[in-house]
Amino acid sequence: MIRLDHLTKRFDHFLAVDRLSFEVPQGEVFGLLGPNGAGKTTSIRMLTTLASITSGQAEIAGIDVSRNPIGVKRVIGLAPQGLNLEIELTAEENLEFHGRLHRMSRHDRRARIRELLEFSELWEKRNVQVQKFSGGMKRRLLITRAIMHRPKVLFLDEPTVGLDPQIRRRVWDMILGLKAQGITILVTTHYIEEADFLCDRVGIMNRGRLVALDKPQSLKNTTGIYAVICSRMNGCPPRFFNDRDEAVRYASELEGDVTVRQTNLEDVFIALTGEAIHD
Ligand SMILES: Nc1ncnc2c1ncn2[C@@H]1O[C@H](COP(=O)(O)OP(=O)(O)OP(=O)(O)O)[C@@H](O)[C@H]1O
Ligand SMILES: [Mg+2]
Repeated sequence: MIRLDHLTKRFDHFLAVDRLSFEVPQGEVFGLLGPNGAGKTTSIRMLTTLASITSGQAEIAGIDVSRNPIGVKRVIGLAPQGLNLEIELTAEENLEFHGRLHRMSRHDRRARIRELLEFSELWEKRNVQVQKFSGGMKRRLLITRAIMHRPKVLFLDEPTVGLDPQIRRRVWDMILGLKAQGITILVTTHYIEEADFLCDRVGIMNRGRLVALDKPQSLKNTTGIYAVICSRMNGCPPRFFNDRDEAVRYASELEGDVTVRQTNLEDVFIALTGEAIHD
């Protein structure tokens, strides 16, 4: 449903996205994980026709992004990283406006707005101006607006940034609900547990490049499912094992504060790049 072939974005001499290639089949939730500046948003902007492609190709639902941007726009929905809702308008008016842009009939708009505001638990707030919404409500409305015109492919750029854990869960439920409807979803995040929980497969990006791509569990298996982590004071690098006894034995030989725990995706990232996602 999404296909990237050596997709590249250059700003002057700076390579923001460097020959990114992967495919996402229909109905998958695919995560792009990486630190600030990795090139996640730039990739999404190219895939959603908002930024030009320097070289390489991309296809959405079999439509070439460079050659037929209007065709692509019809089949995609986007919830951008920056909230771009009309804050003077109500929730309902934001959806109404979007539905008109997509030439949905009046009857269809009315039914769809109700269905979606109920789905995102915002129906009660339909007549409230968006500027009075909390961050979590705005994020939910942003996703709701992105699916108003029934896209086949949904792009969510940092859909839960800044939300408290409880609201984040609600957004995750919403995303899984959309997956259950057969929508293909590409989501970016730098929350490790989000990628782990939501995504069928994860692509790890660093400095414009894809450094790994697999199911979250497979990425952890490849690195080693047990991590031996030293405190900063000790200064020794983390080591990974698939055998718990081996991990414990290694840890017992080290001095100072040492932890043995299950490997997470951040460990995978550090093992692959030698850098941390959060500094
Ligand atoms: N219009 C632009 N002109 C020049 N450089 C840009 C432009 N847009 C993005 N960049 C650079 O491209 C790189 C990738 O940025 P991008 O926004 O894609 O990263 P990101 O992975 O989405 O990061 P974040 O997690 O902070 O959202 C950064 O170094 C950024 O400064
Ligand atoms: Mg970004």
